Amino acid sequence: MSLVLGDRSWLHSTVNSISVPNPGKSRNWTARLLMFLCMALLIAVARAALDDVQAVSKEQLAKFDKGPTSIDVSAYPAGIQESYTAFRQKCSLCHTLARPINCDFALPDEWSHYIKRMMYKPGSNISPAQAKKIYQFLAFDSYVRKKALFDDKHSKADDAGKADADARVKELLAAFPPK
Ligand code: HEC
Repeated sequence: MSLVLGDRSWLHSTVNSISVPNPGKSRNWTARLLMFLCMALLIAVARAALDDVQAVSKEQLAKFDKGPTSIDVSAYPAGIQESYTAFRQKCSLCHTLARPINCDFALPDEWSHYIKRMMYKPGSNISPAQAKKIYQFLAFDSYVRKKALFDDKHSKADDAGKADADARVKELLAAFPPK
């Protein structure tokens, strides 16, 4: 009998010696790995959301880039013609000027948002005064040259969007009365 008990005791000590020496430490690593995976997932989701804000596909960009590279501004008010120069200089630094000319932004608010985005890109060097001129040019130009797109977007905007566009266009036309 005692022999059998003795035999079992070696079994216990063997089991003890093969169990993980510091179970607390191993849980720690599992937790760290899980944390790491969660963080990686969060970052991936955040990046996907950011890309979504960008919204426009490579194909669309290529289509914009292949369109006309200049605008006939001869019928625009003198102040707007001046701003065309700032637009041409600043907005052709990183991509063709065709891109902003042919893209489908039309409402003033879309432009003010987008110009800000471009201002924050490293190396763009667009001063607030230049940004204002470029905004005035693009908002005026879209209202005239892209009238159909402007009207379509305006009709689809909510009340606040419509009111914002109306107020901005009114201000623009008061500052730069059409010829
Ligand atoms: C410092 C580099 C840089 C400058 C300067 C710059 N852009 Fe861009 N632009 C980009 C990059 C990069 C993209 C690609 C999409 C993105 O990152 O928004 C882009 C994309 C665009 C698009 C297409 C985006 C869309 O959603 O349709 C328009 C329109 C545009 N730029 C307008 C402008 C205008 C207007 C200016 C001048 C105020 C300007 N860009 C100046 C770098 C620049």
